[in-house]
Amino acid sequence: MIDCSFGEPERGKGMPIALVVHGGAWPIPDDQVAPHQQGCQVALASGWSVLEAGGTALDACEAAVRYLEDDPTFNAGTGSVLNAEGDVELDAAIMDGQTLAYGAVVNLHRIRNPISLARSVLVGPATMLASDGAERFAIAQNIPLCDNKDLVVERERLLWQQWKANCNASLLDLKQTSPARSSPQSAGHDTVGAIALDVHGSLIAANSTGGTPFKLPGRVGDTPLVGCGLYADVLVGACVCTGWGEAITQMALSRRAVELLEHRISPQLAAEHMVKALGRRVGGIGGCIVLSADGRVGLAWNTPRMAYAYRVEGRPTAWGV
Ligand code: GLY
Repeated sequence: MIDCSFGEPERGKGMPIALVVHGGAWPIPDDQVAPHQQGCQVALASGWSVLEAGGTALDACEAAVRYLEDDPTFNAGTGSVLNAEGDVELDAAIMDGQTLAYGAVVNLHRIRNPISLARSVLVGPATMLASDGAERFAIAQNIPLCDNKDLVVERERLLWQQWKANCNASLLDLKQTSPARSSPQSAGHDTVGAIALDVHGSLIAANSTGGTPFKLPGRVGDTPLVGCGLYADVLVGACVCTGWGEAITQMALSRRAVELLEHRISPQLAAEHMVKALGRRVGGIGGCIVLSADGRVGLAWNTPRMAYAYRVEGRPTAWGV
């Protein structure tokens, strides 16, 4: 019989503060390992300084993800992959494990830090805002717009030019083998995310992405979809995903990982089980980070590499690529 006895919050005084960040699961080339590692470590440090000073998990996650969005190494904010039309198009989301509220933004242009806009949506009248409406909401929130070209880096512009030169299919030819409809394994790059537990007992999950390389304009992956790219429930824990968004969405991966925590499966086993299921059930590739409400960490991926860093109060910092 399934153990469903997870009705009461487990967090309270004496629980550790904790922060887990990831910088994407994909075949990170050797020459990009060091910048991925460094970026994750600095993002962790920027979020950790918030938690250590008694700040909120919300502020810590925003700080960590903003750093990763600003670091052109990562596929989020500046440095994002380009869609089939050569544009940056961004998605992000944030979820509060206490209230189960979430805020998400999709198909964004001209927003340097989508995570900050998602945070504004979290406390606003909607749960998800798209495209022009999201931009108008940003202006109303005094979040400045940039030129979308400011988010494009030379590395991605060259990759798009190479792809375009070899791509004869019409954009809307649904039979084309674009990375948006098949595995983006070879195209690479994927998503950033964070989960934090604070001294006040809050649990927050957050993520941000440029999506899959050369995606159809308007395509939305798992990242901003609650239960797919992220889920947080302070009663048990949280999960944030990275990888092929179509497959992760089909699996409702993050919600299912949290459900395993509800059945008292450890975060590590929950992460491993769900990533195995992703591969077996839908041929998906990617990874996830999991943090239980009592500060235990789980990490798993089925790609050649995933960039991550984490810290739990009273224990040394851990990282890897
Ligand atoms: N995992 C990000 C995306 O597929 O859009």
